[in-house]
Amino acid sequence: MSAAAVLSGVAGALPPRLVTNDDLARRLDTSDEWIRSRTGIRQRYWSDTAATSDLAVQAGQRALKAADAGSVDLVVLATTTPDHPCPATAPDVAARLGLGPVAAFDIAAVCSGFVYALAAGCAHITAGLADSALIIGAETYSTILDPNDRATSVIFGDGAGAVVLRRGDSAQPGALLGFDLGSDGSAKDLIMIPGGGSRSRTTSRSTPVNCYFTMQGRPVFQHAVTRMAASARAVLDQLNWPAGSIDWFVGHQANARILHAVAEDLGIAAHRALLDLDRVGNTSAASIPLALSRAAADGLLRPGERLLLSAFGGGLTWGSSALIWPDLTTG
Ligand code: ACO
Repeated sequence: MSAAAVLSGVAGALPPRLVTNDDLARRLDTSDEWIRSRTGIRQRYWSDTAATSDLAVQAGQRALKAADAGSVDLVVLATTTPDHPCPATAPDVAARLGLGPVAAFDIAAVCSGFVYALAAGCAHITAGLADSALIIGAETYSTILDPNDRATSVIFGDGAGAVVLRRGDSAQPGALLGFDLGSDGSAKDLIMIPGGGSRSRTTSRSTPVNCYFTMQGRPVFQHAVTRMAASARAVLDQLNWPAGSIDWFVGHQANARILHAVAEDLGIAAHRALLDLDRVGNTSAASIPLALSRAAADGLLRPGERLLLSAFGGGLTWGSSALIWPDLTTG
């Protein structure tokens, strides 16, 4: 038994505007059939006015309530769509949640951001730098999508998910039991917003820069399957958990075909791969906590069940972790 960070609350938040595949097919050369069969996505939610911090505050408030936590002493926010390039969004979220002068920072690991943020929160807690932490994944991809790009517009959705971590021990249900994190920057071009940073300055540009999100879907698909499977397997090996003992594979909600391919590679039955992307699309850093929050609220996750989390995203980055599901109320 050793010190560990223990998950004690989970919640999610979605903006109100529902966008169906048919809504998109009315203005793009695509169809409900193409989107469903290639991705498994039926619909997503897009924000009209809410910024990333607004969704993060909603999810954070609900997670704190679900955990019955009046305060935490660390806020880590994973996002690809911060409110501003500078400063970070986490301090604003912490202030608006009334958490006082706590440590607060953002993590930029694209769709792997939540697992990276979870690892950062756990490391702070086990190192004695914090007793508790609010870990949020929040995104408003609708603000960075090229409205004329059918290859990306149909995939991404907005939303936020949050969990509360408390100091405990590794024998407690909810303890985060192992991590595997990795990256491959040599493939950074596969998922990118080319403009707006120091490589392509917006202040002195002579030619227009592309500030929209870009993705090369097919190679990303292949990397996603191999990296997530290898990373998830590394965590199973750390814990000596056979793949067959996993009750729920909670993968980043990028594409149902990716989730099923990773599950199959690991030897986990397809129906054990949690699917939330059908209703919310790919919400990047928010996808894993949103999936957990929905599955917990639906009563799908039972106390004592083994969960394997795994994510993959731009960078490239990937990460995995595992826990035994605790007895929680959900927000
Ligand atoms: N509707 C209709 N046709 C389309 C659409 C669309 N929305 N989008 C692309 N097509 C067309 C293409 O133009 C292409 O046509 P062509 O054969 O005439 O050239 C054809 O469909 C096939 O295109 P592909 O991109 O090869 O389609 P694929 O089957 O690979 O599906 C998808 C595309 C869904 C994007 C898939 O590649 C995928 O899911 N990739 C992984 C995404 C992912 O995992 N992201 C995770 C990280 S994301 C992050 O970090 C932010």
